[in-house]
Amino acid sequence: MIRRILYSSLACDRLVTKDVFDIIRQSHNRNCKNGLTGGLLFLDGYFFQVLEGLPHAVQCRYKRIARDPRHTDLVVRQDVTTASPLFSNEWMALRDASQVDPQVLDRHGYMRGMPAEKFTGRQLLEFVLDCFGKNTECLNEEMDPTHPATSASMAPVPIDALQIQPLTAW
Ligand SMILES: Cc1cc2nc3c(=O)[nH]c(=O)nc-3n(C[C@H](O)[C@H](O)[C@H](O)COP(=O)(O)O)c2cc1C
Repeated sequence: MIRRILYSSLACDRLVTKDVFDIIRQSHNRNCKNGLTGGLLFLDGYFFQVLEGLPHAVQCRYKRIARDPRHTDLVVRQDVTTASPLFSNEWMALRDASQVDPQVLDRHGYMRGMPAEKFTGRQLLEFVLDCFGKNTECLNEEMDPTHPATSASMAPVPIDALQIQPLTAW
């Protein structure tokens, strides 16, 4: 079983596309080493990141990411345990506005930041997957609480509620 986190955050004002490429380059190497996969969507100054892997690895990395001054206002929008990675073999895929089909934005009723009060974690995840051109059918089994492979909590989780373990063991 793996853990999958989806969070949104606000990029700091000075951040430009080159900085995002730097984040991806470094994340790629580190995630590969730590067995983490996922995707980072950068849209209108907001990040949406899917991070998945062994629970402890996800937790440790998320803790570091949350402290990074290149973004603020992190909100964990989904935190699930699942058998199926969505980005298997992609250490950290990237999409920015230039790579997203405007029809995808329309289809999901895109609003800047995909605010939590209007878009559930599930809706945000479907939007992110669509931006990456991924099929969302694999999520259907996660809607079934009796599915043996999945235990999912779909409500947005405040960062403070995340149980962060000490880093010493990693
Ligand atoms: C939006 C965003 C996403 C990031 N994603 C990752 C990631 O997936 N993996 C990673 O190793 N670092 C990622 N980073 C960089 C981390 O915040 C941090 O700089 C890195 O993990 C090194 O942390 P450390 O110096 O405490 O070891 C991300 C940073 C930002 C701003």
